[in-house]
Amino acid sequence: MRIAIGNDHAGVEMKNIVKAHLEEKGIEVTDFGCSTSQSCDYPVYGEKVGKAVALGEADLGIVICGTGVGISMAAGKVKGVRVCVCSEPCTARLSKMHNNSNVLAFGARIIGAEMALMITDAWLDAEYEGSERHERRIRMLMELEG
Ligand code: RB5
Repeated sequence: MRIAIGNDHAGVEMKNIVKAHLEEKGIEVTDFGCSTSQSCDYPVYGEKVGKAVALGEADLGIVICGTGVGISMAAGKVKGVRVCVCSEPCTARLSKMHNNSNVLAFGARIIGAEMALMITDAWLDAEYEGSERHERRIRMLMELEG
């Protein structure tokens, strides 16, 4: 499993915690995020992670900013990306099972590190159900991308 991770200045500390957690699980992590608290622009990092996933260079992506909103919007602009901003594990799990989400986002200023790891694990452990109705809806989403 290869995961692309990205963050802006608000997400550096949480990125490091999540990255270490993933590596402990034996997951290969490519870090596209910034590494200092100096102010930077979240679209840059959301795009990098989105493209890595869309191009198949990573199996999944995780993006982190202050709220999770800006960086998820950026990643979600990349064709083929289905991103889910989560503050609890249930949404993360269902986003994989029903929406086949391939990028997970959360806000470092919204949730704590322990919750971030619970969300991450719930998302990684869940499997896309792949039923006809979910496939149809995902096709419809892809049609919206043009
Ligand atoms: C940066 O201050 C903050 O705006 C950013 O991390 C994020 O929360 C935007 O959605």
